[in-house]
Amino acid sequence: MTDSSAAGAAVYSPMTLALYDAWVLGISNRYAWCCSTGAVLMPFFRANVRPHHLDIGVGTGYYLAKAQLSSQTQVTLLDLNPSSLEAAKRRIDRPGTRTIEHDVMTPIPGDERFDSISLFYLLHCLPGPLDTKAAIFGHLKHNLRPGGVLFGATILGDDAKHNSFGRKLMALYNKKGIFSNCGDNEAGFGVHLREHFNDVTLKRHGRVLLFRAADPIV
Ligand SMILES: C[S@@+](CC[C@H](N)C(=O)[O-])C[C@H]1O[C@@H](n2cnc3c(N)ncnc32)[C@H](O)[C@@H]1O
Repeated sequence: MTDSSAAGAAVYSPMTLALYDAWVLGISNRYAWCCSTGAVLMPFFRANVRPHHLDIGVGTGYYLAKAQLSSQTQVTLLDLNPSSLEAAKRRIDRPGTRTIEHDVMTPIPGDERFDSISLFYLLHCLPGPLDTKAAIFGHLKHNLRPGGVLFGATILGDDAKHNSFGRKLMALYNKKGIFSNCGDNEAGFGVHLREHFNDVTLKRHGRVLLFRAADPIV
């Protein structure tokens, strides 16, 4: 783990995780990032999650807990922060859920492959610039099974023309190292994803970019 990776994960203590859903998934998504958790992000999660799933940057486990997964779905949780792993595992309460404490900036040890990998609100927390953090696409494509999909959502940087609430949060979070996303933009994510995948879809809602990538270039 590098110092810069640690900053993007350290804020998620049991106390901040207790407030996370209300503050981030409720208030901030609605009023700062203008991307609805219930109407946009959850349907996108449900549409892409597959039976052997890896969730990276797990937070409170909200999406997995609410997605009404089939009983067959096997879930693996990966996060740098043990408090997030514990909170999400407890929340989703599924027998057989595995946890991996690991920094996503480095390749996942072993050669396990998944049908789907989700990265929700992770990339804006990773140390920038975009060219550095996007290296994870090159690692994670090797963790997909044939036909698998990598998908997620991330808050865009200054180019996204944030509203005044968003600008205040962006300034505070980037100053504290909770976010490192000032230079993140849709075009840059497109370039990096297309370096590693033949099939890339990008869609913007408010200041959030939703991405889906399949058919890795190996
Ligand atoms: C903003 S939360 C997202 C939670 C959840 N996915 C959601 O969308 O509600 C970011 C999560 O990513 C984790 N994280 C941050 N940097 C990380 C890194 N370098 N490697 C692995 N996990 C990291 C944090 O610990 C935290 O659990």
